[in-house]
Amino acid sequence: MSILVTGGAGYIGSHTVVALLERGRDVVVVDDLSNSSEESLNRVRELTGRDVTFVKADITDRSALDAVFESHTIESVIHFAGLKAVGESVAEPLRYYQNNLVSSMNLLGAMADHDCWDLVFSSSATVYGDPEILPIPETAPTGATNPYGQTKLMIEDICRDVAASDPRWRISLLRYFNPVGAHPSGNIGEDPNGPPNNLVPYVMQVAVGRRDKVSVFGDDYDTADGTGVRDYIHVVDLALGHLAALDHLPKGCDVYNLGTGNGASVLDIIETARDVSGQEIPHEITDRRPGDIATSLADPTKAQTELEWRADRGLELMLSDAWRWQEKNPNGFNEPD
Ligand code: NAD
Ligand code: UFG
Repeated sequence: MSILVTGGAGYIGSHTVVALLERGRDVVVVDDLSNSSEESLNRVRELTGRDVTFVKADITDRSALDAVFESHTIESVIHFAGLKAVGESVAEPLRYYQNNLVSSMNLLGAMADHDCWDLVFSSSATVYGDPEILPIPETAPTGATNPYGQTKLMIEDICRDVAASDPRWRISLLRYFNPVGAHPSGNIGEDPNGPPNNLVPYVMQVAVGRRDKVSVFGDDYDTADGTGVRDYIHVVDLALGHLAALDHLPKGCDVYNLGTGNGASVLDIIETARDVSGQEIPHEITDRRPGDIATSLADPTKAQTELEWRADRGLELMLSDAWRWQEKNPNGFNEPD
């Protein structure tokens, strides 16, 4: 019996595959490598001393997915595969709806046809839009401000409807806050294509000398230092959250915030990154980025109680592990030029 991990060559997927293998589970990864490299799985094998089956396939192709279920006995699925860049989703909405929705519907269909009912899905704190209540509980109103967020809300609804249609389903929707950091070995980590959209990989590329300076998107927010505040969570804690979710699948469908409940501002991140790396991080204040909110902060109580999971790796560890990965792999998984 294996666990199928869609998108398992990607950033959060590869860290979760390590945690699964270390727990003694057998894993099949299906990924089309559209935003990742097979090298991540080679590193996973080296780190764990265990093999992982890899199928290169686009899961918007239902027949490719059926072939995976026919050649392996799959007991449960963790579904990471999807496109995730907010700005790109505004520019190319159809590509996002096509990829994220079709892949998820194919997966649910293939699972039911192969008598597999246990699913953990990667949702996002983006579904809370601009939150009215902080910290944000799962019961807060949802609303997306971009096509990427819409796909997450739609997939959540599809999962709820599917779970209501057959009592065998057990589906956990995990709303991640801001995943950062890397495996403590520094051998796997986040490897964005082109200039990073997200703060921490950008800061790390400045620290390592690949980019000149960080733009701080606004210092006039209603926060302690005026810069945006987020709930950053170590990717290893997040990976362990998936194992906890598999161990505590609900009857039907339920939703959990995965965050720490602690906030850090953009300037906190820059300062801590400077401390842990010993590198100067030049930065300048620029205009706000359209669509950004002042503060995002999880209320993680439900996951702590029902999943018996807690994210306890702090900001220094998140950034020192991110720095180790960046310093050891200045070009990510690519060979140096
Ligand atoms: P990632 O891009 O590193 O991983 C996603 C993987 O899915 C990639 O390896 C990509 O090649 C693969 N993929 C995409 N479309 C596919 C398809 N049609 N068929 C097969 N493989 C496909 O991203 P990540 O940061 O690891 O995110 C994983 C999941 O978590 C995504 O669903 C993302 O939306 C969600 N999420 C991420 C964040 C974040 O900040 N990283 C926050 C909230 C939610
Ligand atoms: N920021 C900068 N400069 C940068 C990049 C970001 O100042 O170069 C600021 C942003 O304005 C924000 C904070 O840093 O205040 C964090 O920004 P990120 O882009 O790292 O993260 P977001 O909170 O905007 O969004 C991320 C993912 C979304 C996901 C969300 C919640 O990109 O897909 O976390 O999980 F939905």
